Amino acid sequence: MNNEKTLGEHLSEYGVSRRTFLKFCAAMSSVLALPPTRAAEMADMLSTKPRQSVIYLSFQECTGCLESLTRSFSPTIQSLLFDVISLDYNDTLMAAAGEQAEQAREQAMEKNKGKYLVVVDGSIPTGDGGVYHTAAGHTALDTLHRVAKDAAALVAVGNCASFSGIAGAKPNPTGAKALMDIITDKPVINVPGCPPIPEVMAGTLAYVVTFGKLPELDNLKRPLTFFGNTIHDRCYRRPFYDQGKFAKTFDDEGARAGWCLYELGCKGPTTYNSCATTKWNGGVSFPIQSGHGCLGCSEPNFWDAGGFYNPLSTGHWGTAEGIALAAAGGVAVGAAAAALARARQKKFTEEENK
Ligand code: SF4
Ligand code: SF4
Ligand code: F3S
Repeated sequence: MNNEKTLGEHLSEYGVSRRTFLKFCAAMSSVLALPPTRAAEMADMLSTKPRQSVIYLSFQECTGCLESLTRSFSPTIQSLLFDVISLDYNDTLMAAAGEQAEQAREQAMEKNKGKYLVVVDGSIPTGDGGVYHTAAGHTALDTLHRVAKDAAALVAVGNCASFSGIAGAKPNPTGAKALMDIITDKPVINVPGCPPIPEVMAGTLAYVVTFGKLPELDNLKRPLTFFGNTIHDRCYRRPFYDQGKFAKTFDDEGARAGWCLYELGCKGPTTYNSCATTKWNGGVSFPIQSGHGCLGCSEPNFWDAGGFYNPLSTGHWGTAEGIALAAAGGVAVGAAAAALARARQKKFTEEENK
């Protein structure tokens, strides 16, 4: 590990009280849906460990994912997360630049061989030998292979790193690929979203750091705690969907009355994420609450999948009655799909743990 000191020693040196740390652990336990009693256990486990070394690589990205993580509404989560981990390389946040920065990364890799976590945002260009993203004379592809080689696990944050995102949308001129399509011999966790919810990123990292293992994942390698339900499963507009009450335009009476946005292209029924419960900006709101349908930003291929404003049922159900029928059917289909995903994930996790 990077730091000889335990996390407890590090925090007390930086003036973080045990009380503040316990509050952080309680917030993380709640985000992870763990019983409240686990907060103290989490605090004890974390405070006696050295800080986890994390190398954060940014490739074809817009910095939205890192903005989301560092501008988390909750300073408890955001600031303490960066105290809990030792962020040994991040070319946006670190003070060092150029060769000094590259050396810092090499040193961290050497010192924490086999133990460090790699966080990746952005897709990886593979076209024309990967020339579309180079830093310090190395392509993103080379850097990723080099850094991943001695990593304990990798975490893809954002749709770009998880599923190739916007750079991977048609016609994908750079040959953009997702992390999991390139690194296939190491454990990979996907935390998609464009960007992901800060608490979901922080919660996933906190789980791995605390328990030293991967959380339970779905068939797309997403933590089930955060991606186990669709937006539709938990949407407060769901009663309108079930009654067949749909807004037809963004400013009609139905929209003003808060009716379901399905006919305006909402992808909530097929999108797995925590937005409807965790929400954004410290729990203030989420896209549907602000009057816009879900775009499906935590799913593969969401840029190309049929248009943001086309209803999921386009071409199949044109009437409200038909959509209400689809709604009833959708519950069963959604439940079956979730059960299948869980069964697949169980198998995946068992294989991972062998
Ligand atoms: Fe930007 Fe979205 Fe890609 Fe994150 S997932 S880097 S926010 S385009
Ligand atoms: Fe909510 Fe969208 Fe489902 Fe309607 S279709 S209930 S707006 S998630
Ligand atoms: Fe993305 Fe849909 Fe949430 S667009 S932010 S998953 S409501």
